[in-house]
Amino acid sequence: MTLWSERMGVEPDPLMMAFSDSLAVDRRLASDDVRASGAHVRGLGRAGVLSAGEVDVLVAALEQVGGELASGQFAFVPGDEDVHTAIERRVTEIAGDAGARLHTGRSRNDQVATALRLYTRRELATLGRAALDLAETLLVRAREAGDARLPGYTHTQRAQPVLLAHHLLAHGWALGRDVDRIRDALRRVDVSPLGAGALAGSSLPLDPDATAVDLGFARRFENSMDAVGDRDFVAETLFVCALLGVHLSRLGEEVVLFSTEEFGFYRLDGRWATGSSMLPQKKNADVGELARGKAGRLVGHLAGFLTTLKGLPLSYNRDLQEDKEPLFDSLDQATLACRALRGLLGSVVFDYDTMRAAADAPSLGAVDLAEWLVERGVPFRHAHGIVGALVRDSIERAAPLAELVAASPELGPDAAALLAPGAASRRRRTAGGAGSEAVATELDRFAHALSEARRALEEGAGIR
Ligand code: ARG
Repeated sequence: MTLWSERMGVEPDPLMMAFSDSLAVDRRLASDDVRASGAHVRGLGRAGVLSAGEVDVLVAALEQVGGELASGQFAFVPGDEDVHTAIERRVTEIAGDAGARLHTGRSRNDQVATALRLYTRRELATLGRAALDLAETLLVRAREAGDARLPGYTHTQRAQPVLLAHHLLAHGWALGRDVDRIRDALRRVDVSPLGAGALAGSSLPLDPDATAVDLGFARRFENSMDAVGDRDFVAETLFVCALLGVHLSRLGEEVVLFSTEEFGFYRLDGRWATGSSMLPQKKNADVGELARGKAGRLVGHLAGFLTTLKGLPLSYNRDLQEDKEPLFDSLDQATLACRALRGLLGSVVFDYDTMRAAADAPSLGAVDLAEWLVERGVPFRHAHGIVGALVRDSIERAAPLAELVAASPELGPDAAALLAPGAASRRRRTAGGAGSEAVATELDRFAHALSEARRALEEGAGIR
C-alpha cells in the first residue's frame, strides 16, 4: 500500500519503489520529523481542524513513535517509502482515525524541508563548535610556543623566519572565518517552510507564523513555492563544509610534511599516528592525509548537488531527494575531521630546536639587510640587488653570508648583526606581522575573536 494507491488502482512496481525509496538515508530525520509533526498537529488544533482531544491523542502517538524510533524498536514495513511515510503510518496505527487526520494541510514537500532545516540547524551548529574547538587548540599551542620560530615558506621555499605562534594562528584565522560562515548560513537555515503545503499553501486556516514559533525558527517562509523548492541552505552548508575541508586539508598536508624526517619539525603522538603492516619502523600521519583526502569528497558533494539543482523548474521536484546523502555526509565528515585534527595537533610534539635551526639560516635575513639599507636612504630596488649579489656570492664561493656582509662597503658589521639568531623576528614591527610584539597582540585578538564567535554561535540558531 502506498499513499497514492487509490489514485493508481494498482500497486507500484517493486523496482520503481527500490529506485525511489529513501528510507535508508532519511531515517536520520526521524526525531526532526516527529518534532515538526507535533508542531503541525498543534497548528491543526488551533485552526479547529482537530479537536483538543485529537491533538492530545496525536501528540501522545507521536511521542510513542519517537520513543520507538530512538530505541530501535520501530518496525519499518515494506511500502515505507521514507521516514516521513513510516511515521505517519505508525501514528495512524496507534491513533486510528485521528492519525488519518495528521497529514491535513501538509505535504511531504513542506514536511521534508522542515525536518531537513531542523536537522541542518542543529548539525551545522555542532560543526561550528568542532571548528571552534580546533581553533582553540591551535591558540593553546600557539601560546605555549612562546618565541619558538620556524622558517615561513612561500612556494615551499624558505622565505623569512616567523614565530610558530603566528604560523599556527594563520590556520586559526581561516577556521575563524569558517565559523563566521556557519553563523551566516544559519541565519538562512533558520526559516520554517511548514505551511507551504505542496507548493501553494492551504485553504484551511493554518498559521505558518505560529508553527515557525513552535519550532523555534526565527521566521516563516515568504513564498510557498520557494519554500518547498529552496535548497540553498543545503548548498550553502555543503560550501561551508567544502571550504572548511580545504582548510583542514592544508593543515593536514602540513602535518604530513613537517612530520617527515626531512623536516623533523613535528613528532606525532603514538595515539594519533598509524604504523605499517609490513614496515616495522613506520609512524605515519594518516590523520593528516585523511583530512587532505576527505576535502576531495566534500568539494565533490558541493559540485554534485549544485549540478542537481541547476535548471530545476519550480517548485518541488523529486530530484531534491538527492540532497540528503551529501548533506549528512559532509556534516559528518567535516565534524569528524575537525575533531581528529584537534586530537592530532593537541598532542603533536614541536621540535623547537630543529625549527629554530632552520629559521636561523642567515639567508632568511636577506630582506632585513635590504630594509637596513633603505633606512639609510638606498632605494629598495638597489638594496635588493646589493643583497641578492651577496647571497649569490655566498652560495657560489661557499662563504658565510655574515662574513660577506660584514666586509661589504655598503653594509658592514652593524648590518651583519641583523643575521644573528632571532634578530629578524625581534625587528619585525608591522601590525599583524610575524614579529614578537605584533604576535602578542594577535594572540589576544584571536582569543577575543574565538570567545565572541562561541558566544554568537550559542545564542544563534544552533541551540533552539
Ligand atoms: N523522500 C522524499 C524527499 O526527500 C519525500 C518527498 C516525496 N514527495 C513527493 N511529492 N513525491 O524529497
